[in-house]
Amino acid sequence: MKITDSIKYVGVNDHVVDLFEGQYDVPNGMAYNSYVIMDEKIAIMDTVDAKFTEEWLGKVAEVLGDRKPDYLVVQHMEPDHSANILNFLKVYPDTTVVGNAKTFTFMGQFFDLDPAMKKLVVKDGDKLELGSHVLNFVFAPMVHWPEVMVTYDSTDKVLFSADGFGKFGALDVDEDWACEARRYYFGIVGKYGLQTQKLLKKATTLDIQIICPLHGPVLSENLGYYIDLYDKWSSYTPENEGVLIAYTSVYGHTKEAALMLADLLEKGGCPKVAVADLARDDMAEAVEDAFRYDRLVLATTTYNNSIFPFMHTFIEHLTERAYQNRTVGFIENGTWAPVAMKTMKGMMEGCKNIKYLENNVTIKSALKDDSKAAIEAMAAELLA
Ligand code: FEO
Repeated sequence: MKITDSIKYVGVNDHVVDLFEGQYDVPNGMAYNSYVIMDEKIAIMDTVDAKFTEEWLGKVAEVLGDRKPDYLVVQHMEPDHSANILNFLKVYPDTTVVGNAKTFTFMGQFFDLDPAMKKLVVKDGDKLELGSHVLNFVFAPMVHWPEVMVTYDSTDKVLFSADGFGKFGALDVDEDWACEARRYYFGIVGKYGLQTQKLLKKATTLDIQIICPLHGPVLSENLGYYIDLYDKWSSYTPENEGVLIAYTSVYGHTKEAALMLADLLEKGGCPKVAVADLARDDMAEAVEDAFRYDRLVLATTTYNNSIFPFMHTFIEHLTERAYQNRTVGFIENGTWAPVAMKTMKGMMEGCKNIKYLENNVTIKSALKDDSKAAIEAMAAELLA
């Protein structure tokens, strides 16, 4: 696949992965992208996941024809992109591997490196001339690992963006970009909003016509749309007005409360109401929705003098990703000593700029007139 006259796509689609990075459900698979830049010198941009050695090397060989690569640029050492470095060097041993000091530290941890391996250690802002193409290396620490760097080709105005602007989903499946890019961003990079903001600021100084990420499609049109979403996500700005109601329920009473609230909000004209059963629905989707909308209601039962485990996990997902700038309310249930609200609020006390609802709900076992009235008051406050 041609990206520009001299940049070719040599990535692969993965439809056999069960959980990406050991935890993310990817119903439409995953793409591991890799690119070849053909010039007087030839650079390969990253390798692919370990399962696709032969397929990837075959694609690289087809693009190279009778030429040999000069450089293998390693932007990110996570194994979904780096697993084939040694396999590549077995076929093309004269290639110079390009990375930064941390890249080579991690490479040495993952592999037994040949001391004779040709290396080019670059610093932030260094350039590499391939002929007419000039690669500019821009360090992007913690988007998503500390050694990550992105690469700007100032000739074709292409940003090789590493994990940035990536998404779940293989490239042979047609699906909405934002939905799976948002789930990917908040799942994988969401903790590092500040670092992503720094990278975006650097990117605004560049004339970018094409973005070539390591996952998901190459982006070449309407780039402002994608950059604007990334700016919102990484600055913890709610993307849409709406309410996520995330609940756990043991015997259905807390669920009944969550659904009653959702119904009132929908009837009251709330632009979007999302409901997640944290024990059954995709946790990453619930995390994504918590960051997408400006309001969140957490509903759970008291359990072991704390809260139900799936809610505990969910709140940890939010707090470790610096959840902030939203309105939050609580629905708790408990038959003899409800402590769920106190526990949930306590877990969130480090979150910045949270407005807590005044109207929260306590259920003692099952919904009764008083708890139904409390849900109505909560709905009214959320709709105000
Ligand atoms: Fe796609 Fe952070 O690896």
